[in-house]
Amino acid sequence: MCGIIGYIGKRQAAPIIFDGLKRLEYRGYDSAGMAIFDGSNGVQIKKDIGLVDDINKRLNFLSMQGNIGIGHTRWATHGGVTQTNAHPHISNNKKILVIHNGIVENYQELLTMLKENGFTFYSETDTEIIPNLIEFEMRKGKDFEHAAIDAIKQFDGYCAVLAMFEGERKIVAARNGSPLVVGVGNGENFIASDIPAFLEHTKNVIYIHDSDFVVLDSNRVKFFNLEDGKEVGRPLHSIDWDIEQAKKGNFDHFMMKEISEQVQTVKSAANQDKEILFEIADEMKKAKGVFLVACGSSYHACLTASYLFSKITKLHINVVLGSEFSNYENFLTPGTLVIAVSQSGETIDVLDAVKTARQKGSKVMSLVNVVGSSLHRNSDRALMLNAGPEICVLSTKTYTAQLTVLALLAYTIAGKYDEGKKNLEYLWNIIYNLTAANTRKYLMKLAEELKDKNHIFTIGRGLQFPTSLEAALKIKEVSYIHAEGFSGGELKHGTIALIEQGTPCIVFSSKENEKEIISNAMEIKARGGYIIGIDSKKNKDVFDFFIKVPDVGDLNPIIQIIPIQILSYQLAVLRGCDPDKPRNLAKSVTVK
Ligand code: F6R
Repeated sequence: MCGIIGYIGKRQAAPIIFDGLKRLEYRGYDSAGMAIFDGSNGVQIKKDIGLVDDINKRLNFLSMQGNIGIGHTRWATHGGVTQTNAHPHISNNKKILVIHNGIVENYQELLTMLKENGFTFYSETDTEIIPNLIEFEMRKGKDFEHAAIDAIKQFDGYCAVLAMFEGERKIVAARNGSPLVVGVGNGENFIASDIPAFLEHTKNVIYIHDSDFVVLDSNRVKFFNLEDGKEVGRPLHSIDWDIEQAKKGNFDHFMMKEISEQVQTVKSAANQDKEILFEIADEMKKAKGVFLVACGSSYHACLTASYLFSKITKLHINVVLGSEFSNYENFLTPGTLVIAVSQSGETIDVLDAVKTARQKGSKVMSLVNVVGSSLHRNSDRALMLNAGPEICVLSTKTYTAQLTVLALLAYTIAGKYDEGKKNLEYLWNIIYNLTAANTRKYLMKLAEELKDKNHIFTIGRGLQFPTSLEAALKIKEVSYIHAEGFSGGELKHGTIALIEQGTPCIVFSSKENEKEIISNAMEIKARGGYIIGIDSKKNKDVFDFFIKVPDVGDLNPIIQIIPIQILSYQLAVLRGCDPDKPRNLAKSVTVK
């Protein structure tokens, strides 16, 4: 959470930082700010609450002159959403500027110490501690770099920090648990929470490791170990993401663009590194217990996989939320295999689960979208989702990519890799039709009908139960209509009390469990519910609105969710919500 970016080079920093901030806005968007240094005239700071573009209209970020700069887009953790609490934060001597992603856990203790030493504070943030701690260390006679190292070593908690000092042409940075990556240019360097922030300028990146301290000037990037201060080498990687993937193109929003991209991304996800796929399949067969661990939509993909593994391979797996994983540590042994599933590879609950597994000697493998992310680097083996950058806060194309890879894994374990690939290839045309303009037009009629509803329920059975959970999550997080997903059999155990005349209920049906799910739909309809059926054929007696999706058996979850992704998007647009940046959310959840 929070997006951070720094630039040092020959060009004007403000436009580069400004564009970078817009690309990082999915990480947090309650306030934003920039600090630019021109080498002679002191540091200029502009910051305010709101979206980057709106703040720019008020404060004109782009008028700031200088070729060293840092910028921040905030997802508040410590202190309310106010102009004062927005980053960058400045030291008492007005020379040290800091932006920060994370939490200073020993904030209170450091605050007291600094106050006792005469420092004053203007904000409610924990971040303001950092520039003052650096100033405190510099007062002892240390230079900026060493003072920054000694200051950063004093605070606890996951973080990524960037700092600059008015007197010097350099940016220093440190990372502990929160994402940070360097972009290496020609006579210029970049540093940011995520690659799309500087992808327009360079594809050469260096991943920063935990406990790294980094010093950037225009021509060099040096890495040191925070603990012993020794210089360390970090390899340069060239990434194959394209800047066009990180732009909206002809679409109004990233969400719709990314939903449409699924024609391609399901294909790329199915195109796996065969050696790693077979190796992980083998490890799963050998393991004494397999855990899938994930959060949010990724968790729903894992839940779906638990049904797929049971059906296709008869392999039992445990599916656990990242935040609940420590409760299962007594079942972890060196023979256990933990597979972490995450788009970002930076979700802290998932990374903590991986840490727990490591402490117990268990093997850790992963399915991840972001190359070089913490999870990718901390896994014994990783399968990439190959979905390209996902900019919308909601997961859409990476959810279906996860389902695709998990299904392929299930087929591979069952010795049916070729059959799995063929079945997945069959989906491409279907996804093309499901995302086509005429389907979207048809779904818009439904969105118009539902846009003023207070509740929407979703039900499915077996493989489609997790689909119903994911459908409800998509609807509520982007349109703010209350939505809840259930196993078809569960609604009547309580929640059916909420069904009134016209209450919408989306029913995921398939040949496999048609009889049971249709009788659940009938129970709801009998109490006045409005039934939206997703099925391969229209059940005239039950469905008030019919969404036709071909029945592809075990792979139904990959395609049945797509109309609901589109519907959720349309509901958001009709209700005046920003589909790419739903309120209170951020894409990478790097705090607990
Ligand atoms: C929902 C959504 C979130 C993420 C969750 C895990 O649309 O995007 O629920 O799925 O925060 O994120 P990753 O997959 O990055 O670990």
